[in-house]
This record gives sequence, C-alpha cells and structure tokens, in this order.
Amino acid sequence: MNGGTQSMEQVQNIRWDQAEDGLVILDQTLLPGEEREIRLQTAEEMYEAIRSLRVRGAPAIGIFAAYCMYALARKLPAADKEAFLTALAAQGAYLDSARPTAVNLHWAIEEMMKTARANADSGREVLEQVLLRKAQAIQADDIQKCFQISQYGLELVKDGDGILTHCNAGPLATSRYGTALGPILLGTERGMKFRVFADETRPLLQGARLTSYELQRAGVDVTLICDNMASIVMKNGWVQACFVGCDRVAANGDTANKIGTSGVAILARHYGIPFYVLGPTSTIDMACPDGDHIPIEERDGEEIKSLWYEKPMAPAGVRCYDPAFDVTDHGLIDAIVTEKGICRPPYTESLAALFREEA
Ligand code: MRU
Repeated sequence: MNGGTQSMEQVQNIRWDQAEDGLVILDQTLLPGEEREIRLQTAEEMYEAIRSLRVRGAPAIGIFAAYCMYALARKLPAADKEAFLTALAAQGAYLDSARPTAVNLHWAIEEMMKTARANADSGREVLEQVLLRKAQAIQADDIQKCFQISQYGLELVKDGDGILTHCNAGPLATSRYGTALGPILLGTERGMKFRVFADETRPLLQGARLTSYELQRAGVDVTLICDNMASIVMKNGWVQACFVGCDRVAANGDTANKIGTSGVAILARHYGIPFYVLGPTSTIDMACPDGDHIPIEERDGEEIKSLWYEKPMAPAGVRCYDPAFDVTDHGLIDAIVTEKGICRPPYTESLAALFREEA
C-alpha cells in the first residue's frame, strides 16, 4: 500500500485513479488527525482494508468491493471463461468474508458477478470496461440515493431542531451527503440550522473521529458526547429527532446498526423522541425475515481494552465481549427513510411495497 495526502476540500473516500490506473481509498483509521490516501493492489490488502475499517460504513464497503472486483478481474488469466468466473467468484467470496453484517458488501459483489457472467463472452477488454463502468455506476447511484434519502429525511425535521446521531453515516460511510447525516448536510447547504449531538460510539469512536470531523468541516453546530450521555441530553429537551444509519434491515424492519444504536432507540422511546433509520434499499435484505437472522460481527476485545490508550485500561487477560453491531427492534423505529421514500410501520408491508414497485 502506498501513501499520499489530499487536501481538505477534495476528501473522497474511494476512487479509481484513472491516471495511475489503481484503486485508492482515504484511510479512515487515521482520521481526524491525518488525511492519507492508500493504494490497494492485492486481494489480501483489500480484505485487510475492510476488516480494519480503513474503508467502512455499509454503502462504502459495497462501493469499495465493486472496484475491488474490477481490479482483481484484471489480474485473472483470460484463457478460459468458466475458470475466470470461478476464480472471480472465489475472490468475491474472500472479500465478502471480511465483515458479515452489512449486506451491501455481499450485494455489490453479487452485482459485479452478475455483470461478469452476463458479459463473459464479450472478450476480455470489453468485459473489463463493463466491470469498471458497473463499479462507477454503483458509486454514482449511491450519490443519487443519498441525495434522495437526504431530501426525504429533511421532511422529518425543522429548522433549529436538535438531532442525535450514533456512529458515522455521513459521506465517509457512503459517497456524498451520507444517509443519517444527509438531511443535516443538505439542510445546512440550504441555510437551515441544526444542533447535532454525536455519540462518540465506543469502542471504535466513529462518532468522535468521523462524525464530528465531517460535521465540523461542513459548518454544522456539533456537540460530541460520550455514549452514556445520550439520556441526559434527551432529558434536557435538546433532541427532537434521532437519525441513524443501518447495516442491514430485515424484512420486518428490525435493523442492525453500530453497537449501541438499540440503546439510543430505547432511550428515544422513553423520552418520546422520534427515532429514524436512514439507508438505501441495497441495505434492506428481504431474504432475512427478522433481526434474529442477521449475523453480528464480533471483534477483538483489544479494541475495548487498549486500542485508544497509551497503556491498557483493563487487567491483562480479562474476558471481553465486543459485538460490532446490535439490532434495534422494529417496534422502536418510527420510520425507515430510503431513496424511494419514507416507510412507516407495519414494515412487513411498507418495505415489501418498495420492492414490488421495483419488480
Ligand atoms: O463498523 P462500521 O464503522 O462500518 O459501522 C458503520 C455503521 O454502523 C453505520 O451506521 C452504517 O454502516 C451506516 S453507514 C451509512
């Protein structure tokens, strides 16, 4: 992986560098202190980038995986069509195994495989061009979807509102605008003022490192709080809505998102504050009936014990439980905002309707 820097104005999380013909990401593990781009060449480097959260956020890992599939396809021998497709599928399965919860990763790999299969007879040069265009289309599509989600989300808040968010569901986690941060960024562009409370989001601090970074750069009034301060902020009457992203929405509306999200939803219900989930339809998994069927990634307890400290903050050898996501029960969610509109309960009907329209 090669390093490089980019200016504040040009921050882009994932790009295919035409000039240098390679896949480049902004290394999110270094933010906010350092904005450094890295170039990824091998399947192992790509897997590691997803696993270590150098690239993260459900839509972003989907976009990244799409470019990875193009980059890896170019390295496979061309001779035999079936052997090529089998080898590409194996690379896809390898990337897919990096993180289990966000369905976008699997979705994007499948989209690339469908494209490869449909064009496998077109000759190698054409096939590679089609794969690049498909990855670019997935990214462009996400920009458009985030914009639409942002517009719909804006209908749920008014100028001056306090909004609490958890984890990071902004441009770094998507393409542009983001999902949960989308209405805030779009509204700010239109002259609206919000007061945002960003949960720091233990243990990986996506709220502290990434959400407050993105909102501050955009000139949004953002206040960083520890996760255990959400209750007092709500009780003080400072929060009129909660906006969160999602990694997988089951057919009944149960939603997996960053660990701690379900606690925010429970608090919001207690204080009578609406709780909204925002995400593209590629995050909705209609094959998954409910939250019990969503695989939850478990991570290394060192993230809790030592990652951010100069010296370990827990006794050596203490057992840790470090789930990366939790599931918010559909009954706690007031609306799910997609690029196609705002879904309300019962979600078994409103989510199914989105896909019926598509069909
Ligand atoms: O572990 P992460 O940082 O990839 O988790 C990200 C989240 O939980 C986001 O809220 C979710 O992916 C939505 S991003 C638009």
